[in-house]
Amino acid sequence: MTRTLTVVKAEIGDAQAIHDLVNLYAQRGDMLPRTMGEVYENLRDFYVARDPSTSSGQGDFLGCVALHIVWSDLAEVKSLAVPEVAQSRGLGSLLVNACVDEARRIGLERVFALTYRPAFFERLGFVQADVMTLPRKVWNECYRCPKFPSCNEIALVREL
Ligand SMILES: CC(C)(COP(=O)(O)OP(=O)(O)OC[C@H]1O[C@@H](n2cnc3c(N)ncnc32)[C@H](O)[C@@H]1OP(=O)(O)O)[C@@H](O)C(=O)NCCC(=O)NCCS
Repeated sequence: MTRTLTVVKAEIGDAQAIHDLVNLYAQRGDMLPRTMGEVYENLRDFYVARDPSTSSGQGDFLGCVALHIVWSDLAEVKSLAVPEVAQSRGLGSLLVNACVDEARRIGLERVFALTYRPAFFERLGFVQADVMTLPRKVWNECYRCPKFPSCNEIALVREL
């Protein structure tokens, strides 16, 4: 099935679907919530997965991820989400790899993710890292996380 699916840069019409999917998983404690304002402000960071065979002009929305630049050598892979009905078909991997490809293309040295799914990222070439080795700027969002300060997310880094 993945051969017919595509991962492309998000368009303005994807914002509501990104918001709704991310916040669905945020309610379960799997990821940080996002407001519509945050989705719009960061929309150009996002990739979305689509099924172009659907009749809708943009294709069915089948997941999202964002690549957010932190510094000259570092970016975060964040807001990764695939609807339950579309999981385990390789879409999550395609989304992360789109971020890795772009990060490499624009000259970054490494990307990282903070996650409760370390095995998923390890299969994509990420390795676990001490979060304290990442710049403090990375902690920017932690202060508004409901789990702060007792978060047990795992940091993983992929050198490019
Ligand atoms: C994490 C998440 C994005 C993965 O999305 P996905 O589309 O299922 O990802 P993939 O299909 O690439 O990989 C998922 C699994 O399917 C397996 N898989 C990949 N392609 C496959 C295929 N063609 N056939 C069967 N299995 C496959 C992978 O080995 C992987 O195994 P795992 O569950 O043991 O890790 C998804 O589970 C999700 O949205 N979770 C909720 C939100 C969340 O936790 N986000 C991460 C925050 S960092």
